[in-house]
Amino acid sequence: MCPTGTCSDSTVKGMLSSLLVLHGPNLNLLGLREPEIYGSATLADHIDAVRDVAQSHGISFVDVQSNSEAEIVEAVHSARGVHDAIIINAGALTHYSWALHDALKSFTGNVIEVHLSNPGAREEFRHVSVLSDVVQGTISGFGGLGYTLAVHALVALEK
Ligand code: DQA
Repeated sequence: MCPTGTCSDSTVKGMLSSLLVLHGPNLNLLGLREPEIYGSATLADHIDAVRDVAQSHGISFVDVQSNSEAEIVEAVHSARGVHDAIIINAGALTHYSWALHDALKSFTGNVIEVHLSNPGAREEFRHVSVLSDVVQGTISGFGGLGYTLAVHALVALEK
């Protein structure tokens, strides 16, 4: 976050003190939903893991989950000037939401896309992420480990 509110975009990218962790549709059902694919951990369990790593780096974070595309887009808008980076598991919005693509494109900090499963190894409609070109990178297929890897990646990107 820019402490004075006057930093240039490149300066904002060099500081990581505040993180937004965003989850899209159906991810509130983690732990119950297709556990053979997504595992038995709940969304709260994944957020706890992010909290542990973020706290160890002195990073504060806010987490938002919504089943509404509009609310996810608005959460990205609200992150501007407030959060330095975003970790997002957009759920199925990943595969078709150009509105979310455009919102993320307007965010000046680093964005890491996370998927619990490996969408590239699943049904064909999951093979495309319309978010790929507006994120720094994607971590897929490592289950909940992906979230902590994403925090480590963001910390490393700031160095
Ligand atoms: C997911 C993969 C998406 O294809 C799917 O729609 C989800 C979860 C994942 O974490 O593996 O909801 O993003």
